[in-house]
Amino acid sequence: MAPDPRATWPEEAGLTDVLGRPLRDLRISVTDRCNFRCSYCMPKEVFDKDYQYLPQTALLNFEEITRLARQFVAQGVRKIRLTGGEPLLRKNIEVLVAQLSTLRTPDGLPLDLTLTTNGSLLAKKARALKDAGLQRLTVSLDGLDDAVFRSMNDVDFPVEDVLRGIDAAQAAGLGPIKVNMVVKRGTNEQQILPMARHFKGTGIVLRFIEYMDVGATNGWCMDEVMPSADVVRLLQTEWPLVALEHASAGETAQRWGYADATGRHDTEAGEVGVISSVTQAFCGDCNRARLSTEGQLYLCLFASQGYDLRSLLRSGNDDAPLAAAIRQIWHQRSEQYSALRSALPADAASAVRRVEMSYIGG
Ligand code: GTP
Ligand code: 5AD
Ligand code: SF4
Ligand code: SF4
Repeated sequence: MAPDPRATWPEEAGLTDVLGRPLRDLRISVTDRCNFRCSYCMPKEVFDKDYQYLPQTALLNFEEITRLARQFVAQGVRKIRLTGGEPLLRKNIEVLVAQLSTLRTPDGLPLDLTLTTNGSLLAKKARALKDAGLQRLTVSLDGLDDAVFRSMNDVDFPVEDVLRGIDAAQAAGLGPIKVNMVVKRGTNEQQILPMARHFKGTGIVLRFIEYMDVGATNGWCMDEVMPSADVVRLLQTEWPLVALEHASAGETAQRWGYADATGRHDTEAGEVGVISSVTQAFCGDCNRARLSTEGQLYLCLFASQGYDLRSLLRSGNDDAPLAAAIRQIWHQRSEQYSALRSALPADAASAVRRVEMSYIGG
């Protein structure tokens, strides 16, 4: 979709969408490729050797990404997350990190600059990323048991290498590190307690994610979703937990602290989080925009269409049309897929042709 150049939104007004939600978080996908084949994201049968990935010329280059990101920051973005696919597969990714780390908010503050990785290349890249200006990162890890992990990544990748990557990230001073575990009932729920035991007291924040019906290829069904409430109940069989406040507006996770003997949060023991996109949608304050690898702007993880910013970028050096397009597109945004899903008949929800998460990023 091309943005409508006639529609405008006054420069001086604080930018919000139709539901009053500001623009704060920009997720930039830097590659649609990944070296894992997690069945919930890039199932092997679909993402096989014949799968057509984007050609090199379609990708935004680093200068284009930085130029666009600067416009987003001028419109309210305070956090930038690099995603993929697997972002560390993008050649010289640390050069992009270095460019983005120079951006400042209108008040002169640095951004919250982070990245989501599967950890496979982290042992090699952690130091360079830190030196380039990355502050923190999130590692996806769906289990500690090697056999379970190998079967979830579906490329027989050993868990040990990811754990070494996490250690390297900690040693490099990247932090706070978060670990995201997608829970699939019947597949890796037995890993919940071992994962919690492993990361408790390490300063690493473990978060359990409900398996979502994102994309069109993972064959999602509700039976495989383990509701966060059940995850929390399971954790409480081993440790008392206390609910913590949101750390920031629009946060995806509900936070739970390990409690001490008096029932207060034991900050040494740390916290866990649950992300309940299916059973408790958080669209109400969703402030996230997503930029695909080829420069399409998506307003929701479940969108079927994006807005083409690459053409605007490549049509000239003037940034004003870019800023105007971002404002206009965000101002017209009304997406709230997860909140509305429960109201849709099951077949209507699954009939929409949705974009893949490996294309627009988590
Ligand atoms: P922090 O800033 O570190 O708290 O990160 P975050 O939780 O905002 O981002 P992250 O990419 O770690 O998100 C974790 C998971 O939450 C993703 O992998 C998705 O499964 C889910 N998620 C993130 N954003 C959205 C969203 O906007 N909608 C839905 N439905 N799920 C989301
Ligand atoms: N459900 C929930 N989270 C998903 N991710 C990818 N596919 C899904 C899905 N179907 C998220 C995971 C992974 C990140 C890259 O994307 O959190 O860690
Ligand atoms: Fe790759 Fe992450 Fe998708 Fe797994 S979830 S296939 S690691 S992008
Ligand atoms: Fe935001 Fe869409 Fe996710 Fe709702 S479903 S939280 S609107 S990205």
